[in-house]
Amino acid sequence: MSSLVAVILAAGKGTRMRSKLPKVLHKVGGKAMLQHVIDASTAAGADDKVVIIGHGAELVEEMVAGQAKTALQAEQLGTGHAVLQTKEALSGFTGTAMILCGDTPLLDGEELKKFYEAHKASSASATVMTAIMDNPTGYGRIIRDNNGDVCGIVEQKDATEEQKAVKEINTGIYCIECPLMFEVLETITPNNAQGEYYLTDILDKLYSAGKKVGGVVTADSDMVMGINSRKQLSVAESVMRTRILDKLMDSGVTIMDPASTFIEASVKIGQDTIIYPYTWLEGNTEIGEDCEVGPNCRFTNVKMGNACKIQFTYAHDCEVKNNVTAGPYIHLRPDTVISDNVKIGNFVEVKNSNVGVGTKLPHLTYIGDSDIGSGVNMGCGCITVNYDGKKKHRTVVGDNAFVGCNTNLVAPVTVEANTYIGAGSTITKDVPENALGIGRAKQKNIEGWAENYRNK
Ligand code: UD1
Ligand code: CA
Repeated sequence: MSSLVAVILAAGKGTRMRSKLPKVLHKVGGKAMLQHVIDASTAAGADDKVVIIGHGAELVEEMVAGQAKTALQAEQLGTGHAVLQTKEALSGFTGTAMILCGDTPLLDGEELKKFYEAHKASSASATVMTAIMDNPTGYGRIIRDNNGDVCGIVEQKDATEEQKAVKEINTGIYCIECPLMFEVLETITPNNAQGEYYLTDILDKLYSAGKKVGGVVTADSDMVMGINSRKQLSVAESVMRTRILDKLMDSGVTIMDPASTFIEASVKIGQDTIIYPYTWLEGNTEIGEDCEVGPNCRFTNVKMGNACKIQFTYAHDCEVKNNVTAGPYIHLRPDTVISDNVKIGNFVEVKNSNVGVGTKLPHLTYIGDSDIGSGVNMGCGCITVNYDGKKKHRTVVGDNAFVGCNTNLVAPVTVEANTYIGAGSTITKDVPENALGIGRAKQKNIEGWAENYRNK
C-alpha cells in the first residue's frame, strides 16, 4: 500500500433523497457521485482506496468492484464508527488516510492533492479542509483557539448560539495519520445530541493530547458541496455542467448556447467543432475537429470523425467517420458504421449496417442489417426488408449501385456492383454485376377508360 489511502464514506441511507437507489449512486454529469469521488481521489494520488458501504451495500459494492476495497458498516452509528470499520482493511498501514464522503461529486483532484501536500508539509497529525460559507446552517463549525489553530469541530445540533455564528465549516474532508487515527477513534463516545460516534471528535482529542491539528480553507466552496436532496442534486448538476462546458470552450470548442447544451464529463470533442443548441452528448461519445453538431442532436456512445455536419439526429452506439452530412430527422442505431463523405438526408434510419464511402441515402429510407458499398445512391423510400417475423437477414449492395426510388430489397439478397434497380421494385433475387434489376408489375394503359367512367 502506498503512503496515501482514500477512505470514502458511503454507508449512509440518504433519507432526504427519497429514493430506492443508494444516494451515492445517483448521477451527476452522467456519472455516479461515488465514481466522481473515486476519480478525484485517484487524481489526488490515492491509488489505494477503501469505500465504507452499508445502506444498499450490494449495489454500491458492484459499482466499486475492481476500483477499491470495501468495508461494511452494518449499522450506521455515525461517521466515526464508519471510519473505524476500515481498521481491518488498513491493518498495518502507516501513512495518511484521506477521508472523503461519497456524496460530494464536485471534488477536484488537483485541490485534494494540494490539500494532502499542505498536510504533509505541516507534519500535523490531522488536517481538516474547511470552507467559509455565508450560510453555514447544517454543517459542523470549526473551532479555533487563540492562536488560530483548529481545536475542534462542533455539529450544528450541539452548537451554542455563539458557535452557530461561526462561518468556517467542516467540509468533511480530512487527512489523518494512521495508525494514530484508529487509536483515537476507539476512544470516541456517542455523547452528543444525535447519539452518534462523530468522526469530528478526533480533532478535539488530538488537540487535547498536544498533537498538531491543521485547518486548510478551500477557496472553492462549490467543490465540497454535499448532496442530500434532489434539489441539491440539481444544483450540483448545473455546476458540473458549467464546468464541463467551460472546459470544452477553453479547449477550442464553440458551444452556441450553454443553457441548452448537455454534455457528460466523459465526452471528448475536437478543436473548432461547433455545438448548436438543444444537444445532448452522452457516454463514450467522441467527436472530432471541425464538426457542426445540432441543433437538436442526441448522441450516446458515438464515435465521430472530423468535419461532419449533423443536425436533428439521434445516434447511439455507432460510428460516423469523416465529412459526413446527416439530418434532419435521422436515427442511427447500434453497430452502424457510416464511412467518409456519406450524405444522409431526412427521415432515414440505419441499423447494424455498414455504409460505404460517398454513398447517398437522401430521403425516407430504412437500412437494416446491410452492407452498402461505396458510391451507392439509394433513391427516396428504399427499404431493406430484413425481418421475416422470425429472423433477421442481411442485404448486400455493391459499389456504385443505383437503387431506384421506393425499392424493397427483400433479404437475404445481394445487389452486385454497378447495377441499376428500377424504381418501385421488390427485389427478391440477387442482381448480378452490371445488370438492371426490375421487379414490379408491368404497366398497362386502358384507352378512354377515364372518360367512360366520368360519363357513367
Ligand atoms: C458531516 C460532519 C459535519 C460536516 C458535514 C460535511 C460529522 C459528525 N459531521 O455531517 O461536521 O460539516 O459532514 O458535509 O462527521 N456516513 C456513513 N455512516 C454513518 C454516517 C454517515 O457512512 O454511520 C456517511 C454518509 O453516507 C455520508 C457521510 O458519511 O456520505 C456524511 O454523513 P452525514 O450524515 O451526511 O453527515 P453530516 O450530518 O452531513
Ligand atoms: Ca452530509
